[in-house]
Amino acid sequence: MNVLVIGGAGYIGSITARLLHENGFKVVVVDNLSRGHREAVQPGIRLIEADLADTHGLRHVLISEHIDVVMHFAGLIEVGESMAQPLKYYHNNVALSIGLLETMRSANVRQVIFSSTAAVYGSPEKAPISESHPIRPASPYGASKAMVEQVLDDMHRAGDIDYVALRYFNAAGAHPLADMGEDHRPESHLIPLILKSLIHGKGNRAALKVFGGDYDTPDGTCIRDYIHVLDLAAAHMAALTHLVEEGPSGAYNLGNGRGFSVLETIRAAEAVTGLEVPFVVEGRRPGDVAVLTADAGKICVESGWRPCYPELESIVATAWQWHRRHPHGYAG
Ligand SMILES: NC(=O)c1ccc[n+]([C@@H]2O[C@H](COP(=O)([O-])OP(=O)(O)OC[C@H]3O[C@@H](n4cnc5c(N)ncnc54)[C@H](O)[C@@H]3O)[C@@H](O)[C@H]2O)c1
Repeated sequence: MNVLVIGGAGYIGSITARLLHENGFKVVVVDNLSRGHREAVQPGIRLIEADLADTHGLRHVLISEHIDVVMHFAGLIEVGESMAQPLKYYHNNVALSIGLLETMRSANVRQVIFSSTAAVYGSPEKAPISESHPIRPASPYGASKAMVEQVLDDMHRAGDIDYVALRYFNAAGAHPLADMGEDHRPESHLIPLILKSLIHGKGNRAALKVFGGDYDTPDGTCIRDYIHVLDLAAAHMAALTHLVEEGPSGAYNLGNGRGFSVLETIRAAEAVTGLEVPFVVEGRRPGDVAVLTADAGKICVESGWRPCYPELESIVATAWQWHRRHPHGYAG
């Protein structure tokens, strides 16, 4: 099968593209490199540097490369930035996704796997969250993903497409070979921030900020569900099989089902690295919720997917190998 991976020079897309390639799929990547890295696209995978807005170019790629399935990772991902610049998010994440879906329809490509997020749920009523939890995004970022999910569902009902929307919780970790990993600029995710503070912080406590120590959790810090990036990539392969086998279209949570607090994550990093992690506790960040964990039972039952890296320390260990060998990410 021929798979178009849009946003395939980014963190999750590039590792998924590699897994697909290693499993015999023909993979073409489209990425505008606004946030991704040319070096993240592995040899043997064609990278087309293009923006989602270039619908003529996309149509040509879909037809000339005989694309069967689109994996749509391309998006802006910063909750805080989306609060400050909502239109940027609605344009890039919603308007350009609609353009992509129109282009797919005109090129008769009918299957799509979409990168959605736990942020569609907003402030959860309970933990863990299942897919039946109300969709009440608390940021333009989360709303942009919920809107695309709605479009996908309506198009599916109209008979235009079949789709799987994967609602990722917190993607983390690196490729076990330590040659691919997380390199967001700016970085806002906890595990790379902890590890980079060890590499670049030089013992400075202010190098790592913990936002909120007074949440209603056992140690007062937020609890999140970390899922290894290779488990995410494997879930995309499972979703692809699910679509090919005419499984039902819909949204699926993708998480470990277990939560770890910020302090537990810091302790895991200390255990993995053998180094003390200095940090300061600051006030809560607007929009952060106390506990966010996934009930991922639906995808497990329907596709047979299971996480291979459920332990926090194994997730942190792969990330540490990557950051230690590449202290400046793909730049070196
Ligand atoms: N990282 C996480 O923890 C997480 C959690 C939930 C959901 N997601 C979703 O997963 C997807 C991938 O996340 P990531 O962490 O790999 O992000 P990333 O920023 O590393 O990758 C996104 C890629 O999309 C590309 N891109 C963005 N807009 C584009 C456009 N208009 N045209 C072409 N390319 C464009 C960027 O250059 C980048 O390479 C995103 O859609 C994100 O919302 C990520």
